[in-house]
Amino acid sequence: MFSKVLVTSALCAVAFASPFLPYSQQAAQRPAEMQVLSDYFSMLGQKVQAGRQMSEAPVCNLDNAVLPVDSAAPLPPVSEGLTLKHVAIGRGIQNYTCSQTNATAPPVSIGAVATLYNASCVASTYPDLLTLLPNVALQFNLTSDDQATLSPSYLAISGHHYFANTTTPTFNLDTASQDLGFAPCSKNNTSLAPTGSPAGQGGQGHGSVAWLKLVTREGATGNLEEVYRVNTAGGNPPATCAGMPATFEVQYAAEYWFFEKPS
Ligand SMILES: *[C@@H]1O[C@H](CO)[C@@H](O)[C@H](O)[C@H]1NC(C)=O
Ligand SMILES: *[C@@H]1O[C@H](CO)[C@@H](O)[C@H](O)[C@H]1NC(C)=O
Ligand SMILES: *[C@@H]1O[C@H](CO)[C@@H](O)[C@H](O)[C@H]1NC(C)=O
Ligand SMILES: *[C@@H]1O[C@H](CO)[C@@H](O)[C@H](O)[C@H]1NC(C)=O
Ligand SMILES: *[C@@H]1O[C@H](CO)[C@@H](O)[C@H](O)[C@H]1NC(C)=O
Ligand SMILES: *[C@@H]1O[C@H](CO)[C@@H](O)[C@H](O)[C@H]1NC(C)=O
Ligand SMILES: *[C@@H]1O[C@H](CO)[C@@H](O)[C@H](O)[C@H]1NC(C)=O
Repeated sequence: MFSKVLVTSALCAVAFASPFLPYSQQAAQRPAEMQVLSDYFSMLGQKVQAGRQMSEAPVCNLDNAVLPVDSAAPLPPVSEGLTLKHVAIGRGIQNYTCSQTNATAPPVSIGAVATLYNASCVASTYPDLLTLLPNVALQFNLTSDDQATLSPSYLAISGHHYFANTTTPTFNLDTASQDLGFAPCSKNNTSLAPTGSPAGQGGQGHGSVAWLKLVTREGATGNLEEVYRVNTAGGNPPATCAGMPATFEVQYAAEYWFFEKPS
């Protein structure tokens, strides 16, 4: 019993069992989802085993968390003097519009809406588990923008992501439990998701949205300065508008890393 409590705190609210999953019967029969979920629960199982052998719970310290870098096409590094403030798994949709008169035109991105879940502790303690989380989270649709925890990981909500206009991705990290700040951003740099990134929900789809470096605009609070979107899962539209409606959405998930200028 003692070791179980210890491990629970070590995993920072990453739960072991998941009694209620908003998961469709049909989806559970698709092998790609089964594989990613099986990898995830097997890794979780190994952490629990490892935890049983630890005399102390690992310390949940953001100084230990390291921003993932795609070595083949690295984004510009975090600006000097900034420190990591928060890591979130974002789960939501990418919105697109499509020409109804030109089947060879590409879909146009008009923004995204996502709910953010607190992965700071997983990032600092179990980076390998964190890497799996976007693709795992992608397999479960949110039931609302305010869904309190992320399935099947039980991470708690830490904010919301939306577009204030088509060039202003915005993060509101104010929730009932804490207020880490508000960050209207602009895009600083972009890099295609690495080869081998998830195709989409159920392993079907058109690939994962690009990795990004965003910088905050005027009006940001909480000393927030830079935001990275990495380890993306899904979200890409088809290459052309052939057969697509005028507006549509594509399910996605990603890690968001928030950096601040210490005051
Ligand atoms: C993006 O970052 C890469 C790597 O730092 C750099 O080579 C490239 O020029 C940047 N692109 C833009 C548009 O700033
Ligand atoms: C349709 O879209 C393609 C790709 O963007 C473009 O090259 C072409 O000129 C467009 N055709 C018309 C009729 O607008
Ligand atoms: C994206 O789609 C969602 C759901 O359809 C909608 O609520 C949201 O307003 C859309 N956002 C944009 C920028 O179009
Ligand atoms: C995220 O979780 C950690 C560990 O449980 C906690 O210390 C921190 O306050 C949480 N952050 C937010 C924004 O909820
Ligand atoms: C998630 O929602 C989309 C509609 O946006 C639906 O097409 C898809 O089947 C759902 N996926 C799961 C796993 O429930
Ligand atoms: C979007 O919002 C930003 C920040 O408020 C503003 O600077 C920019 O001009 C706006 N762009 C458009 C196309 O409205
Ligand atoms: C990205 O940030 C770097 C460093 O702050 C700056 O030199 C560059 O102009 C920015 N690029 C874009 C496209 O905003």
